[in-house]
Amino acid sequence: KGMRKTIIAGNWKMNKTPSEAKALLEEIIPLVKDAACEVVACVPYVDLATAVEVTKDTNIKIGAENCHWAESGAFTGEISTGMLKELGVEYVIIGHSERRQYFGETDETVNKRVKAALAAGLKPIVCVGELLWERECNITNEVIARQLKLDLWGVTEEELKNVVIAYEPVWAIGTGKTATAEQAEEVCELIRMCLKTLYTLEAATGVTIQYGGSMNDANAAELLAKTNVDGGLIGGASLVPEKFAKIIEATK
Ligand code: G3P
Repeated sequence: KGMRKTIIAGNWKMNKTPSEAKALLEEIIPLVKDAACEVVACVPYVDLATAVEVTKDTNIKIGAENCHWAESGAFTGEISTGMLKELGVEYVIIGHSERRQYFGETDETVNKRVKAALAAGLKPIVCVGELLWERECNITNEVIARQLKLDLWGVTEEELKNVVIAYEPVWAIGTGKTATAEQAEEVCELIRMCLKTLYTLEAATGVTIQYGGSMNDANAAELLAKTNVDGGLIGGASLVPEKFAKIIEATK
C-alpha cells in the first residue's frame, strides 16, 4: 500500500458557478496545504479555468468530470481532451455511474474516452461499480470484471501507470449508505486481482484504487485503513471544506 499514491479527489458534479468555485477553493486551499496525499478537485467544465488559476501555486490538482474521445469535430456540446489539456487540467473522471445511468455512457464509450484521455496526457479516474440489484443477485464480481476488461481494452501496461480506478457501488452514491470498510476492501481487492489478470502483478500493485460513495469525515479513516483502498472519490462532502479537509487528514 505504501508504494501507491493515495489520492483524495472531490467530484463536485453539477455544483458551483465559476465565482462560487473560486470561493470554495479559496476556503479549501489553506485547510489542505499540508496534505500527505494527492488532492484533486474535479469541477464542472465552466469552472475549470478559474479552478486552475486559483490553485496555481498550491498542492491541489484540477480534474474535469468527463471528456470526449474525438480531437475535434461535429460533437455538439462535447469537450475534447485537447481543450482540457490547454487549460492545465490533470485528471478527468470517466464512466461515472451518473454518466452511465442518465447520459447513455456504455463501456464502449467509456473505453474510447479513457484511451483519448491517456493519449492526451490526462490521468483518467475510471469509475466502476455494481447496481443494487446486481449486488443482490450476487454478480458484483462479474460486473466489475466485465467493466474493467471493457473500459481498459487496449490500454497498455505503461499507460496503466496513469490510470486511477474508482470503485463506486451505485447504491452507495448520494444515498448516505456507505459500503462497509469490509465491502469496499473486498471489491477493491477484486479490482486489483482483475488488473493482475489483465496486466501483471507489478502493474496491478501500482494502481491507485479509490472508494467512492457517501464517503465522509466520519467514515473515511476506517475505509482508508484498508489494504486495497488507496483513496477516495468524494461527492457531497467535497463541497464542505471542513469535511473534505478531514477526509484528507485521515490519510495520514
Ligand atoms: O464520484 C463521487 C460519488 O459519486 C460519490 O458521491 O455524494 O455519495 O459522496 P457522494
